[in-house]
This record gives sequence, structure tokens and C-alpha cells, in this order.
Amino acid sequence: MKFFIDTANLEDIIKANKIGVLSGVTTNPSLVAKEGVKFEDRIEEICQSVPEVESVSAEVTPDAVTAKEMIAQAEELIKINGGDDKITIKLPMTIDGLEACRYLSKKGVKTNVTLIFTVNQALLAARAGATYVSPFSGRLDDISEDGVQLVSKIAELFRVHQLDAQIIAASVRHPDHVTRVALVGAHIANIPYSVIDQLSKHPLTDEGLEKFATDWKKSI
Ligand code: E4P
Repeated sequence: MKFFIDTANLEDIIKANKIGVLSGVTTNPSLVAKEGVKFEDRIEEICQSVPEVESVSAEVTPDAVTAKEMIAQAEELIKINGGDDKITIKLPMTIDGLEACRYLSKKGVKTNVTLIFTVNQALLAARAGATYVSPFSGRLDDISEDGVQLVSKIAELFRVHQLDAQIIAASVRHPDHVTRVALVGAHIANIPYSVIDQLSKHPLTDEGLEKFATDWKKSI
């Protein structure tokens, strides 16, 4: 399983990339708004800061509601950073979003269909040509449903029907979530920097380091 970082914060993106675990970046309107920056500028800055990643998701804005409006925005977004092929157009899971997905994928543009909460939505997105589908597992857990089970079912369905779309387990909130979505077959976990940081930690690692440091002082 690969890691995408879910943020529009440049510092966090650069920190995650430095440790060599980053395959992509996803943003959404809420994450960009939090940074108080111009959307297109930040997408370009991200592409330039982490040129080695496979995908940088740029979401069509909420005022693009029809397929035509989404496609018009996508056509501008893909020009960012000189037509960089890592720019992935993030589209909402709606009938218009699917129509835009089909159009863009036929043109060879990478797409990420977002806000997926059912297996059938994932199936539709994959059939519409999505490069990535994003089930929001954490948000299902938030309402006492089983988000990991959704990822597991989508993975099984894609295996049975040999569908190529990659599953991005999105809104992943904690390390156990990461392990579980990896084990059920998510291709990618989409996580904030705070979760990447948590993944590197264990109390016994800290305790072991302290003991080595104490013992080392005694020996010199
Ligand atoms: C997915 O692409 C979204 O940006 C993200 O994972 C949503 O996470 P949240 O539920 O923590 O807002």
C-alpha cells in the first residue's frame, strides 16, 4: 500500500516527502481554504515541491455542478505546472461527476472520484474510467458504520471483476485504521501528516532509546 498525504499544507507535504514515503498528495476545498491561499497557486507549488510523486489531486470547486462546468474547470487545472501529468482531477460522486470522469479519462486525464460511501458508487466510478476511487472510511466510522469493511468489499469487487481503478482509503484517522485498510487491499492510504507521524511511534521505541542513552552515558 502506498501513502498519499491529505493536506494543502506545503510544510507537511515536504516533511512527508523527506522520509521517502510519499506517492501522492490530495487536497479538497476545505483543506485549501484552511491554508488561506489561492487554489491554483498552491497546486502549482505542491507540484514543484514534490516533483517525484505520481499524483496531485486538485478538486473541482463546489460551484462546478454540471459535467460541463467540471470539465471546463478541469481543462484549466490540468494546465497548471505546464500540463504536468501528475495533476489528478478530483470529481464528486454524482451523475455529473461520473460524466466528467468518463470524458476526462477518455482524454487520458487522471481522475479521482471522491465522497464514495458505497460499493456501488465505487463500481460506477471505476466503470466511468476513474484512475482512483476514494471511499471515506473514517467518515463512515464517525457515524458508527464500518469504513474498513467498505474498503474491503470494494477491493474484493475490483479483484473479482478485474477493475483497474486504485482504491484510496480516505479520511483515515489513526494508525490502526492504516493497518486495517492495508490488510484488506487498499492500494493507497490517504492520511494527514499527524497520522504519518503517529505511524512512526511506539512507547517501547521511546523507552528503548532512553535506556540506550542512559546506558551510553554510564559507559563514557
Ligand atoms: C479525501 O480525499 C479527503 O480529502 C479526505 O480524506 C477527507 O478526510 P476527512 O474526513 O478527515 O475530512
